[in-house]
Amino acid sequence: MKHLSPLTTEYKAIALPVMIEYKSDKPTPEDIERLYRDAGWFNGHYAGLQTTIANTSHWMLARRDGLLIGMGRIMTDGFLYACLYDVIVDSTHRNQGIGKELLRRMIRHCDDIGVQKIHLWPAKGLISYYKDLGFEPLSEEQPTMVRKTPTG
Ligand SMILES: CC(C)(COP(=O)(O)OP(=O)(O)OC[C@H]1O[C@@H](n2cnc3c(N)ncnc32)[C@H](O)[C@@H]1OP(=O)(O)O)[C@@H](O)C(=O)NCCC(=O)NCCS
Repeated sequence: MKHLSPLTTEYKAIALPVMIEYKSDKPTPEDIERLYRDAGWFNGHYAGLQTTIANTSHWMLARRDGLLIGMGRIMTDGFLYACLYDVIVDSTHRNQGIGKELLRRMIRHCDDIGVQKIHLWPAKGLISYYKDLGFEPLSEEQPTMVRKTPTG
């Protein structure tokens, strides 16, 4: 008869690594609206998000157990320029390296397609964050400008 080993009465807490899945598929409008709202960027004009999803050149998403917890998107002509937009990590998952991993993957994509320059507009306080990833501010003679349209 097979001998069974005695059951141990001591249990050790095992810290399982959190599995974050990075993928470049398209998100749903509901998923990204949740992240925009979480970042405080909701402006009430999100009925057209389906258009944004379809026309964005390249998405980079982070999911945990299927839930979208991070995103970034690239608009590019595929040769001269790429712009990075809307890098957002869900507020309950910040400071775990997810934002930088999304950015590294977006930069790698731009490198792979051979685009010559990558632009972005850093949110307040994030200049050194982006410098760590190789970005430099443009000169003072080239400030960012924006013009709102009737829908903006
Ligand atoms: C900015 C953002 C994407 C960073 O994502 P994250 O996954 O938390 O960042 P990481 O874990 O990769 O990096 C954490 C580092 O960034 C720093 N950081 C994050 N947000 C910061 C902010 N607003 N100002 C200054 N530093 C910030 C942290 O202090 C931390 O620094 P450390 O590495 O020296 O400890 C996330 O805070 C976010 O979604 N913010 C709201 C939306 C936003 O402003 N997006 C940026 C648009 S340009």
